[in-house]
Amino acid sequence: MKNGRATGQEGGAEEYRQRVEAACAFLAGRGLAPQVVYVLGSGLGGAAPGLARQQTVAYGDIPGFPVATAPGHSGLLRWGTAGGRQVAVLDGRFHFYEGYTTREATLPLRVMAMLGATVLLIASAAGGLDLTMRPGDLMLVRDHINLIPDNPLRGLVDDCWGERFVDMSQAYDSRLRAAAKEAARAAALPAPREGVYVAVPGPSLETPAETKMLRLFGADAVGMSTVPEVIVARQAGMRVLALAVIVNVNDPEQMAPIRVEEVLAAAGRAASKAQRLLAGVLPLLANA
Ligand code: HPA
Repeated sequence: MKNGRATGQEGGAEEYRQRVEAACAFLAGRGLAPQVVYVLGSGLGGAAPGLARQQTVAYGDIPGFPVATAPGHSGLLRWGTAGGRQVAVLDGRFHFYEGYTTREATLPLRVMAMLGATVLLIASAAGGLDLTMRPGDLMLVRDHINLIPDNPLRGLVDDCWGERFVDMSQAYDSRLRAAAKEAARAAALPAPREGVYVAVPGPSLETPAETKMLRLFGADAVGMSTVPEVIVARQAGMRVLALAVIVNVNDPEQMAPIRVEEVLAAAGRAASKAQRLLAGVLPLLANA
């Protein structure tokens, strides 16, 4: 960026910024000033907290927003108060596998960061790679591996987004994970395990050989999202709590077919657990 002008190398960085600003202006005009933002993945709309004084806008009505195409994603932004916080819920997210760049896919989160959100709570459907996992288990993401061949910060040279070489040494906030464990205890949920999430590009699922490789890499759960949002959140200085909702378990020695309808149904069944856990974190944020 030179003198505020695109140099031709940013791949639409200036237009991107304008779209984020247009969405911010529109939403701020409707009174949105989030402290906490939820990003809910496939089939996990039910993990949203109950919101007092709720307002809703369809993504398609927000200037600059992309439009959702993935199954199980409603494409609604809702906001209100929950657990003493101003909470915005991005119900429906965008994926690399839909053909979006990760920069485009994370535009809604950029908007939430620019509107002031400082905490990101994510729930994503994932395949378990640890064979002791069961569908319906919740895993707190401790760290990640990015195998999506894109980075949401690529080509965004403007300082307005934050540092370019974003530190990822502690991307997932340990105090928020501790709060999540406390919330699980309080809600009489099984103690969630911690693990490493690996993001793959999708949309095809993993072969047995790929599943073996991901296990050797040290991953405990695999999914097609989360990592781009976490990178953006960290650049924006947000604290992150990510919950991988295990919807299938992949044993490379006896790989069972994975069907998207089953994945969505399993996510729907686990959503209320995720809902209780995340809602229990909200009142703990003041001290976490
Ligand atoms: N692999 C990749 N992504 C997924 C899976 C899986 O097994 N289950 C849910 N999302």
